[in-house]
Amino acid sequence: MSKVILTGDRPTGKLHIGHYVGSLRRRVELQNSGEFDDIFIMIADAQALTDNAENPEKVRQNIIEVALDYLAVGLDPAKSTLFVQSQIPELTELSFYYMNLVTVARLQRNPTVKSEIQMRDFKASIPVGFFTYPISQAADITAFKATTVPVGEDQEPMIEQCREIVHKFNSIYGEALVEPKILLPDNKACLRLPGTDGQAKMSKSIGNCIYLSESPESIKKKVMSMFTDPNHLRVEDPGEVENNPVFIYLTAFARDEHFAEFAPDYANLDEMKAHYQRGGLGDVKVKKFLNNVLQAELEPIRKRREEFQKDIPYVYDVLKKGSEVAEERAAQTLSDVKKAMKIDYFSDEELIAMQSAKYQENND
Ligand code: TRP
Repeated sequence: MSKVILTGDRPTGKLHIGHYVGSLRRRVELQNSGEFDDIFIMIADAQALTDNAENPEKVRQNIIEVALDYLAVGLDPAKSTLFVQSQIPELTELSFYYMNLVTVARLQRNPTVKSEIQMRDFKASIPVGFFTYPISQAADITAFKATTVPVGEDQEPMIEQCREIVHKFNSIYGEALVEPKILLPDNKACLRLPGTDGQAKMSKSIGNCIYLSESPESIKKKVMSMFTDPNHLRVEDPGEVENNPVFIYLTAFARDEHFAEFAPDYANLDEMKAHYQRGGLGDVKVKKFLNNVLQAELEPIRKRREEFQKDIPYVYDVLKKGSEVAEERAAQTLSDVKKAMKIDYFSDEELIAMQSAKYQENND
C-alpha cells in the first residue's frame, strides 16, 4: 500500500514556533526522507471559516501568510503538494455523506470540539458547521487516502473520530477508505509548547507567541522577558526546570551543537539543567542562550521567507497548481465512495440493464 501524508493548518494567523516544533519541522523531515509516495499539505480555510464566518477577510489575508511560512520552513512544492481546502469541492461532498455515519452525541463527546466550544464561549449558539468540523476533517484525510497524519497532540481526537468514520464506512459499504495513523512529535516538550508567559497555549490575542517570521530584535525582546521559575529569585537559589518555559523551549530546540557554539561550559542540555537545579545559574544567562539558539534556528527560515515574499504571484501559483493536483486525487476517492455507496447510477451499466430487463418482462 502506498504511504501518503495529509496534514494542514487553519489560516487564522502567521505560524509560530509552537506550530514549528509541533508539526512543521517533522513534515519537512518526512518530506525529505523520501519514504512517502505522496505528501499533501492543506491550508484549511474552509475549516477556519467554521468559527470565522463573520471574518472572511481575516482568512483570506492569512492564506498567503501560511503559504509563505510553509515555503520558509522548507516544504518544497516539487516534493509536497500545497493546496487550499475550499478549492476542492469534493471534500464538501464527502463530508455530506460521512455525516450519516456520525451521531450528534459522538460529536458532543469529541474533547477538542468540547474545549473549543468553551474557549470560544459559543454556549447555545454553536454554528452547525463548527460542530461538524471533525467530519469535514475526516473528509480531508480520507480524500487523499492518507496513511499518516503528522499533527499536534490537540488533534488526536480528530484523528480518532476519522478512524471511526472510516471503520463504519468500510463495514457498511465495503473497503473504499483507508484508516489513517496519527504521528505525534517524539520529543515531549514539542507536544505543547507553552506561551512565553508560561500559559498553556500560545495565542495571538494574548501576544505570548514567537512567530516564524519574527524579527531578530523582537525575538530577543520576547525571550528576555520570558516567564521562568518564579521561586528562582537569586542566582544561587536552586531552580526548577520542569514547568519552566525557558527550559521547555530549550528542550524543544537546543541541540548539542548549540552548546558547543553558544554555551561551551556545558556539553548538553542535561548539564545545563543540572546546574540550574543545583543553583548558581542565573535566568539571564539561560535566556541569552535560548535567544542564541532561537536566532540560529529562525534566521534561515526568515531569510527564505524574505526571498519568497519577493514573488507573491509565484506563491499563489504554487497553491493553484497544488489545488489542481489535490482535486484530481480527491475526485478519484469521491468516485470510489459513490460507487461503494451505490450512488453511481449513470455509470453503472449493470443497473441500467437490470432495470431495463425488469420493465421489459412486465411489458411482455
Ligand atoms: N484542525 C487542524 C488545525 O486546527 C487543521 C486541519 C484541517 C487538519 N483538516 C486537517 C489537520 C486534516 C490534519 C488533517 O490546525
